[in-house]
Amino acid sequence: QTATDAWRPLVHFSPQKNWTNDPNGLIYFKGYYHIFFQHNPIANEWGNMSWGHARSKDLLHWEELPLAIPHGEEYIFSGCVVWDKEHVSGLGDPQKELLVAIYTADYPNKKQEQHLAYSNDDGLTWTKYLHNPILDINLLNFRDPSVIWHNSSKQFVMSVAKPTERSVQFYGSKNLLNWELLSEFSNQGELDMIWECPSLAELLVEGSEKETKWVLFNSTQGVQKGFVGMQYFVGEFNGKTFTNANPPETKLFVDYGKDFYAAIPFYNAPNQEVLWLGWALSWQYAKEQPTFPWKGQMSSIRKLSLINSPDGLRLKQEFRPNFSEVEPTFQIKDVSITKSKVLSGIKLLQNKSYIIELDVEGTTSDRWGLKWQSADNLQEFTVVGFDEIKKQWFIDRSKSGKILSPGFFKIDSAPWHEGESRQLRVWVDHSMLELLAQDGIVAISSLRFPLGKKENLSVFSDKGKLDLKQIRIWELK
Ligand code: FRU
Repeated sequence: QTATDAWRPLVHFSPQKNWTNDPNGLIYFKGYYHIFFQHNPIANEWGNMSWGHARSKDLLHWEELPLAIPHGEEYIFSGCVVWDKEHVSGLGDPQKELLVAIYTADYPNKKQEQHLAYSNDDGLTWTKYLHNPILDINLLNFRDPSVIWHNSSKQFVMSVAKPTERSVQFYGSKNLLNWELLSEFSNQGELDMIWECPSLAELLVEGSEKETKWVLFNSTQGVQKGFVGMQYFVGEFNGKTFTNANPPETKLFVDYGKDFYAAIPFYNAPNQEVLWLGWALSWQYAKEQPTFPWKGQMSSIRKLSLINSPDGLRLKQEFRPNFSEVEPTFQIKDVSITKSKVLSGIKLLQNKSYIIELDVEGTTSDRWGLKWQSADNLQEFTVVGFDEIKKQWFIDRSKSGKILSPGFFKIDSAPWHEGESRQLRVWVDHSMLELLAQDGIVAISSLRFPLGKKENLSVFSDKGKLDLKQIRIWELK
């Protein structure tokens, strides 16, 4: 097999070789963002589940490190890493800093329990705890623990999923070793699909001084339903129970693309920000990702907050690093577009990663956005934009090159948010497209696998005029 380098993201993380799915154990520690990840160390397909490891100082350059936690008889499924700053667990060398990993040990077709491992060398090597499991309720499906430090109740709080029951349990602990059931959250939101990878986060409400709300996230999949994604609940967490502020039927989704899953927040992120990243692929067609010698990659890092929209509090995601703070590499101001304008100065963007932003002043068009057109094949293109008739954001990859199945060719769309801007940002990184629109209240992440070698990018407006305050591009060299 030949390497498919043209599809490998430049700045988003992908393992040098072999399979990855969920990000695990995200933590900021001693100047590095660490990511661990579900990894098959020996083959380019799911299996032999272990934890891979990589780190970055700037969220753009990743250094892959040796395999962190190899599987034994048990598969090392998803989980988290926390910094045991006060050495409350009493594990390891008390003179050195201690990281603690809590993850699911999967005994295929038998049982899932929560296990612990610890590291005294900043996550490079791990010792599995002698007295594992730390939590076992005798279930076949019981997984993906994610732990936070809950300051007001002075305890660690774990969220862990009972996937087939569509519920999340919360456990509390003072020492990371003994866990006591606090409560269970169920019967709300999306109930047709299984629940995985839950996490709790306290998010700042935009525009307020210090107002925060608690958000419970989880990933849901039901391949037969044709949707794989993440949902969230906004409410309160008092150290014991999570209370949903919305009616139980309310369904809120994080990202309307198929390629964003299993995201969890970074532990200990700088400046009290909540940052996360997800697996940029979907269980619907992951096996078919036509890449070699790796399969699976991570999304961009996104900063999370809540925004007070007319519909209520909604999740807002912003790309990190924050490009708005640096000069764009390309900028045009005050342009009006009828039909289509090829951005000719930026053919050079082929084989680069970049963020492109359209800041819309007003429009009379039916549909507008960005189009990537293959230079060698008129039938191959990808379109991202807004449909003014349906009032929907969309990514159309139905003609984008290699089409996977099932579900890949469906157009991914997300609802319009009344009262918010018409601003669109897309991060392009080879095979990855991540749309954050309306200042980050709308997200669609979708992969594509163009077959052409060159493509042109244009801004288009169907049947009418598109007035742009500006077009800006930040190119990553
Ligand atoms: C989610 C998931 C998790 C599990 C892991 C196994 O994508 O199914 O629930 O821990 O993948 O690789």
